Amino acid sequence: MKISVGLVFLQIISSRCFSSVATKHTENTEIMETSKNTLNLDEVEKFGKLSAEWWSPSSPLRSLHAMNSIRVPYIASTLDSSRDGKKRRILDIGCGGGFLSEGLAEHFHTLGWSDDAIEIVGLEPNSNLVQIARAHLPKHLEGKVTYLVDTIENYVTQNSNPNFDTVVMSEVIEHVDNPQEFLKYAISAAKSGGSIYLSTPGKSVFSWMTLILLMEHVLQIFPVGTHHYEKLVDLKDTLRMFRENNCEIREVRGCFYNPLLNVWHWNDSFKPVAYAVHALKSNSVEKLNP
Ligand SMILES: C[S@@+](CC[C@H](N)C(=O)[O-])C[C@H]1O[C@@H](n2cnc3c(N)ncnc32)[C@H](O)[C@@H]1O
Repeated sequence: MKISVGLVFLQIISSRCFSSVATKHTENTEIMETSKNTLNLDEVEKFGKLSAEWWSPSSPLRSLHAMNSIRVPYIASTLDSSRDGKKRRILDIGCGGGFLSEGLAEHFHTLGWSDDAIEIVGLEPNSNLVQIARAHLPKHLEGKVTYLVDTIENYVTQNSNPNFDTVVMSEVIEHVDNPQEFLKYAISAAKSGGSIYLSTPGKSVFSWMTLILLMEHVLQIFPVGTHHYEKLVDLKDTLRMFRENNCEIREVRGCFYNPLLNVWHWNDSFKPVAYAVHALKSNSVEKLNP
């Protein structure tokens, strides 16, 4: 009896210490894997393969870079900018090679925010992409951005009170397994009353026609297979998941992309094609039990 109790105890301890995090080594890369997985390794590897050309103006990812023109000022506008001496902290989940983290840091730098006023943490499970993001970060932004090789599920499990003022996940939820769990982990990283920003393609015949048929097969802006229709998340489901996690929806915007000019505009008629949600975490959200 004593031996079996001891064995069970050892099993629990070892599963806590050793099985929750592992890294998968694939061709030239290392990917963070966790037992609480929202991670889809095929998706993460796919983006890792684009690492060398991430910041190239002719990269298939140039549309994501161009999206900064609308998302950076919008995300910044949702942050409490009162100068009360407290550092504002933003978590960028699935930061890839750093477009959004770096764009936000540059924005606040231009506004004259010091390194003591703003911190951006970029989380990315693919180590190749984190290397690219770190290498691209200009010297003058180094004090504002920290890049970590991690998944959101592991990060919130390891850090009991992340308390970020703003949590962003831009063009990530359509690449994860179990979006419901992913969103729950992401929300748990925000402080009570904090902002959450999510952007993603919609799930409709219009998004299939533009994103998959036009952008992948006809114009070949993205490699074929970049998006899988069955993984796209419908706006109604996203809003429901936010509400189920005690968040209040503040705004939903439609996103329109012109592939010929590589420019983005907010346009609510395009919500079925691509949308952005700004939500606030209510003060009564239960703390996630890791
Ligand atoms: C399309 S890229 C978006 C990059 C960046 N957010 C942007 O908009 O510039 C999606 C990224 O999400 C990452 N990702 C996928 N699952 C994740 C998870 N569970 N936690 C954190 N990042 C994840 C992928 O590795 C990939 O780099």
